[in-house]
Amino acid sequence: MKPTVRELKGKKGARLAMLTAYDFPSARLVAEAGIDLILVGDSLGMVVLGYGSTLPVTIDDMVHHTKATRRGAPEGFVIADLPFLSYGTPEQALANAARLMKEAGADSVKLEGGAEIVPIIEALARAGVPVLGHVGLTPQTASALGGYKLQGKDEENARRIMEGAQALERAGCWGVVLELVPSPLARLVTERIAIPTIGIGAGAHCDGQVLVFHDLVGLYSGFTPSFVKRYAEAGAAIRDAVARYAADVRNGSFPGEGQSFGMKDEVLKRVMESR
Ligand code: KIV
Repeated sequence: MKPTVRELKGKKGARLAMLTAYDFPSARLVAEAGIDLILVGDSLGMVVLGYGSTLPVTIDDMVHHTKATRRGAPEGFVIADLPFLSYGTPEQALANAARLMKEAGADSVKLEGGAEIVPIIEALARAGVPVLGHVGLTPQTASALGGYKLQGKDEENARRIMEGAQALERAGCWGVVLELVPSPLARLVTERIAIPTIGIGAGAHCDGQVLVFHDLVGLYSGFTPSFVKRYAEAGAAIRDAVARYAADVRNGSFPGEGQSFGMKDEVLKRVMESR
């Protein structure tokens, strides 16, 4: 049963399992496996669309993939990312959140940033849009943060992350993703805010965890962060299956009897006789 946002807010310590999905088959597999929360992350720019970062992802891309995900997980709690530069003003954020929720069927949106995006979160929350925040390493602004690296190691940055998470809570988020921050800092943030934290590369003390589907099942051949645990080698399995198919076609063993259809001899005979 899909949780309400009020129920989600109360899931402190619940160890929520969240995973990304981007299309019908991945959403169906993730839902069938019993995942609590499905994220249509803008990571799709890298793992599905082949870009080098999440920056080129458009709101149209997000709507397209969120619709497919919703079709694969009709009962799932689906969160969709607002992509880079799609929530610069409250008006723009509202218009794009409306597309993700009304057009594509998302239950919640996620956006990256701390105290600086409070007015945006407040406008969304006032309008009744459930919002998941995201602090620490925020891939949309990774270059401004010095690249894809651990955040919050020094006092100033650790304070910025703590204050960001607290500001997001006050602004009305139902939860906050903590990405690539030291485990003790994630623990402290988790203790100091009353809404769930969902960690990725943030250690074991968060209220939930999230990973990227393609990293978890071994479908992404680009850079895989060290905090990822790979649970399957689906890419290798698919490559092997495709190579065996190509070999069977070339050696004539596919299609075999079992993959072909016969027809009545007299029908074939009549066709052969006609010109
Ligand atoms: O885009 C994404 O998949 C994300 C997760 C990694 C949290 O933001």
